[in-house]
Amino acid sequence: MPIQTWNSRSGNRKYFRCHCIAQILWYNTPYMTDEQRKTQKEGDILPTKNSSFQRPKGVHDILPDTHEYFTFIKKVVRHRARQSGFRRISTPIFEFTDVFRRSIGDETDIVSKEMYTFQDRKGRSLTLKPEGTAGVVRAYIENNMNTLPQPVELYYIEPHFRYDRPQKGRFRQFWQYGLEIIGESDPALDAQLIQLARKITEDLGVADLFSLQINSIGCSTPTCRPRCMEDLKNYYFGKERSLCEDCKVRATKNPLRLLDCKLEDCRILASLAPKLKDYLCPECKKFHAELLDFLKELKIEYKENPSLVRGLDYYTKTVFEFWDKETGAQNAIGGGGRYDGLVEIMGGQPTPAVGFAAGIERIIDNMKREQVKVPKKDDLHVFVAQLGYEAKKKCLTLITKLREAGIKTMGALGKDSIKAQLRHADRFCVPYTIIIGITEVRDGTAIIRDMRRGNQKIAKYSAVVDEIKTLLGEDALDTYSPSEVVY
Ligand code: HAM
Repeated sequence: MPIQTWNSRSGNRKYFRCHCIAQILWYNTPYMTDEQRKTQKEGDILPTKNSSFQRPKGVHDILPDTHEYFTFIKKVVRHRARQSGFRRISTPIFEFTDVFRRSIGDETDIVSKEMYTFQDRKGRSLTLKPEGTAGVVRAYIENNMNTLPQPVELYYIEPHFRYDRPQKGRFRQFWQYGLEIIGESDPALDAQLIQLARKITEDLGVADLFSLQINSIGCSTPTCRPRCMEDLKNYYFGKERSLCEDCKVRATKNPLRLLDCKLEDCRILASLAPKLKDYLCPECKKFHAELLDFLKELKIEYKENPSLVRGLDYYTKTVFEFWDKETGAQNAIGGGGRYDGLVEIMGGQPTPAVGFAAGIERIIDNMKREQVKVPKKDDLHVFVAQLGYEAKKKCLTLITKLREAGIKTMGALGKDSIKAQLRHADRFCVPYTIIIGITEVRDGTAIIRDMRRGNQKIAKYSAVVDEIKTLLGEDALDTYSPSEVVY
């Protein structure tokens, strides 16, 4: 099975021509070091003399304004996950490639087309993690977490990597938060997990934009899903010409995935195909019925979707996604399901599990769409301006004291003109500016200027910190106490 490697997508001629020109330009770049020349490879982003570097396609910088959303989302996830007994886990950014091949499945789009796979210096195949569940399950087994009280509830907030076609809400590096419950099987757990995912989406102010789609894809006992797969193969036999290229492959390798193709012709065929729900074994049927009953009890709205199968092979029984009410599956904010066989497939004891993950960039897009405002933690409280060498010295100590008191403070001590400093204060939109000049040094005072009202007062230098604290109010202070830590 070919696995996507770093440089394997340079098929078309136009690309090749531009690529060669760029390559020549780079070879002739006078400031390239010998070391760079030796290590350059086809596909590298090429700087020319007059151009600067750009980020690779499909990845993005998270700038400070967007980071405020990240910070808020992380806070909500941490808070809600902790309330429900989850503890945080981080797994490595890369794993041995087989971790993903064995868990997600060789025939899935993720493994066959989207993985960033490379060899290390000893020729071992490694892959940047395209999703979180496989690594968490590997960690559960490797760290003997089966000896902990079960179920083990873990959450993560991590970057992931997929060679996806970049478009709105679809990146090659993206962040997910994920929740995994490993070690117990009961539809009540699935219901609670869905409730938690829903609650987090509500806290973030975007729940109403999404509808919960739910299905059961049964289990691998011969009388359940395999029977449906067989009938699907028979149903599609002879209809291959009407299928898209991807579905032609799926028809032989994983006919279940034919059910959730988004293309019109394939969808028409899928609507008449055998339905999984008609093949569920009695245990899977009962499990699903109870799950739906629990969701009703929790007053969580859902839509049963017989075509929902998910794009990862490890699922059993429950699968679910939160779909955008306007655009559907394309922009799902998150998805998950039960994976009762995965721990065993990965080399552990048979252990049931259920999990969910959501895309953080997509959540932020929707928060912005809904004009959800998050707390602006980075906003400065105070700007300190000075005039003269002695004043600068006074300001150095004052800035330290202000910051220690939890007052977010900025000073432009490298600038000498008071006009330039005040212009700076304006650009930072601070509510207060403290000004110390020659007179204030001599008198042991400081000027506190209210930037919004445009008035100012003189305070004693020794009382400035307390004055600002009173003006801002205790709640606004950004205090951090190292005393929380036990040394
Ligand atoms: P997934 O559906 O592949 O599931 O990804 C979950 C979410 O990650 C998606 O709904 C989407 O919001 C986001 N996402 C996926 N790919 C991209 C991308 N290229 N760019 C931006 N966002 C993306 C999983 O990953 C499973 N591990 C979920 C799970 C956890 N199942 C059980 N436990």
